[in-house]
Amino acid sequence: MKRIGILTAGGDTPALNATIYGAVVEANKHRVEVCGFIKGFNGLLNPSMPHVRLNPLFTEIPELDPTRGGTIIGASRQYVDPGDKKALEQIGGGLAKLGIEGLICVGGDGTLNGLLPLTELFPVVLAPKTIDNDLGLNYMNEPDEWAREPAKSAPGYRYIRTVSRTTFHLEDMVNYVTPGYATSVFVSAWGIIRVRTTAESHRRIAIVEVMGRQSGYIALGSAYGQPDLILVPECRLNTDLLVERVKEIYNLQKNVVIVCGEGIVDERGEELGASHATTDPAGNVILSGAADELRQILIQRLGDEYFQKSRRASSAEAAIFTRKIGHTQRGGRPIHFDRFHAARLGGKAVEMLLAGENNAVAILQWSGGQGFYVDSMPANRFLDRWGVIHPRKMHPSFYDPERMKPSEAGIDYLLPIFTNALSADDVENLRCTLFDSGNLLQPYHSVNTDIGKLIRHLE
Ligand code: F6P
Repeated sequence: MKRIGILTAGGDTPALNATIYGAVVEANKHRVEVCGFIKGFNGLLNPSMPHVRLNPLFTEIPELDPTRGGTIIGASRQYVDPGDKKALEQIGGGLAKLGIEGLICVGGDGTLNGLLPLTELFPVVLAPKTIDNDLGLNYMNEPDEWAREPAKSAPGYRYIRTVSRTTFHLEDMVNYVTPGYATSVFVSAWGIIRVRTTAESHRRIAIVEVMGRQSGYIALGSAYGQPDLILVPECRLNTDLLVERVKEIYNLQKNVVIVCGEGIVDERGEELGASHATTDPAGNVILSGAADELRQILIQRLGDEYFQKSRRASSAEAAIFTRKIGHTQRGGRPIHFDRFHAARLGGKAVEMLLAGENNAVAILQWSGGQGFYVDSMPANRFLDRWGVIHPRKMHPSFYDPERMKPSEAGIDYLLPIFTNALSADDVENLRCTLFDSGNLLQPYHSVNTDIGKLIRHLE
């Protein structure tokens, strides 16, 4: 191959530039040119196919900095409709004109779904990313555990998870962890630590909502911030137990910090805050309000008197507050763990294309003997028998629903990722850059301005 393309699709993560960087460094070694398509599949669907040459003369452009968060080539949640033959032909024709012989899509489960129609036109591989850590399998053949039945409210099917293996070895996991996850946990844990002292001072109960959709991996990792209680979407809310635990902790220490994943569900399995849910262009449910609904439940169940009796607050409303970590957990500089492994996965994706692989995924594996290593797997292994990719859920064995904390297995899972996840450089960078007096004098200079000057279009 002489020239390949790369695009970043879906929600951004802090490690996308690191993945692109790893791909470009590997491509340089093989004298392969890399074209970055602008704004994910949106760039391919645009007849002028806006793109940037990322390694002219086989040297990466200076804007491609693996420590920079986000993606210099932009991202979107737009995908190619497999039934749209005209769009597929147009993409095939455009890429042929540009001399593109293979494509790397950096993305999550939505992107893996989205790239399938393209694999019939030319070689396409996926380099994984997602802060949600939901692109992967807890163990091989996990997709076989899905069943389906006709949906009641709309045409189509409802997919139901039948059984779940109760135990598995961590070395069985396919894609142990996805780039972006470690940084989002870092930001979330830091936020929780900072909320704690204000909750302590004002005798308050803080509910901190973290992202992750229906997957509780980010909430699980937030245990590093030492919240008192963690609620994950995989385990239905037990309101009575929660109220009892909150009272126990509040009576003892006069403050409580609760972390909830944005996709947590009530006793009936209904998402909290789902009444205001909408969907994004990729059909993903946009969740809002889990923490707010949880707050309402606690306000009702604890009542004003509980706080007034002890003179700790004037009302339950005043004592219980919510905060979303929000998009700060998806933005900014990636921490060392993410940068390093994202770059390796980018390099692996290039190797896969050069080895003739198509419709395959670069994966990050872990074993006690080898630590983290990269490998590849056919994309079909991620599909259920109807060809659907289901986001990976946090395995129930990683969570202790009584203590509302990670279980022993959950702690074993987290340790390999986070024990050396931060480097001295991460800390030093903060020390040197945050209070740089230049920040006060210079306006922010966006990389988009520089990349904009490098964008080329198909004639
Ligand atoms: O999938 C990544 C993610 O950050 C989810 O955790 C979250 O629910 C969603 O994207 C938010 O999407 P958006 O940035 O489009 O609001």
